Amino acid sequence: RATGLFFPVDPGANASLGGMASTRASGTTAVRYGTMRDNVIGLEVVLADGRIIQTGTEARKTSAGYDLTGLFVGAEGTLGLITALTLRLRGQPEAITAAVCAFPTVDAAVNCVIDTIQMDLSMARIEIVDTATVQTFNTMAGATMPETPHLMLEFHGTENSVQDMAETFGDIAADHGGMGFQWASRAEDRAALWHMRHHAYWTILQSRPGSTALVTDVCVPISRLAEAVAAAQDDIARSGLIGPILGHVGDGNFHSILMFDPAKPEELAAAKEASERMVSRALDMGGTATGEHGIGIGKLHYMEREHGEGWNLMGDIKSALDPQNIMNPGKLVPPKN
Ligand code: LAC
Ligand code: ZN
Repeated sequence: RATGLFFPVDPGANASLGGMASTRASGTTAVRYGTMRDNVIGLEVVLADGRIIQTGTEARKTSAGYDLTGLFVGAEGTLGLITALTLRLRGQPEAITAAVCAFPTVDAAVNCVIDTIQMDLSMARIEIVDTATVQTFNTMAGATMPETPHLMLEFHGTENSVQDMAETFGDIAADHGGMGFQWASRAEDRAALWHMRHHAYWTILQSRPGSTALVTDVCVPISRLAEAVAAAQDDIARSGLIGPILGHVGDGNFHSILMFDPAKPEELAAAKEASERMVSRALDMGGTATGEHGIGIGKLHYMEREHGEGWNLMGDIKSALDPQNIMNPGKLVPPKN
């Protein structure tokens, strides 16, 4: 903090830097600062055969060969062990303003986001929380928000630019029925706001003691976002489960926290089915099976559909770097038989 710099990637929950690099994580600020892909500039990696390599340089750009940093970021540990990272830091913005704004419907909020992004307004954060999430904030986290969908946003810049952006955003929001702006310029008010967002997953889980959750994570082109969220709401209703929606909508990325009773297999099946429908639709829309949580084993079965022959190429890279299949075996690439 004392250097005037900060590391901008801000995942929704606790995470380690190595884990974030390995899943190409992102979170609330990616809409402005990018994901781990954009913010890791070099790595030290231990390969399966024991070699240690350094990727990247301190130069701002390079055209020297394959992008090995990019290869290991998002590889989920299947190609090697990341033992050190060089991160890109940013200057702390001179001015920061955050706000929450209520909308009559999720559709109105999402359409506001689409317009905002299509106008190229530089948001540092733009998050959606649906009515169910807001209710949880009110009952579990001491918030006093009107029980309708909200956007939570933040602008970074100079005093003037922040004010300009806030005004422009206010106009766009008003066109979509946005109201009841609550601004937070003081650091402690902003911290309280984002603390609540960061703890949303745990807060939602605690609202139904004994539940566990399947967290969905799809990402679609921004122009299809309203449609994707509306259809996800239908999927959740059809599942019979409670599944508050929240997400990094400036990136077209959203989650539903689908809660189920672990003692009831039919509830887990319903959660899986809802997630499958959301992912399948995201792929049909030209989106991806996971915006930020990764593939592991659970989403392996979408990889061929998302990448086609490219998935086999991932398998070839894996075989070349890890012929004995000792690096996080069974994850991400086509199963070896
Ligand atoms: C979040 C996690 C679930 O956004 O990605 O809170
Ligand atoms: Zn998230």
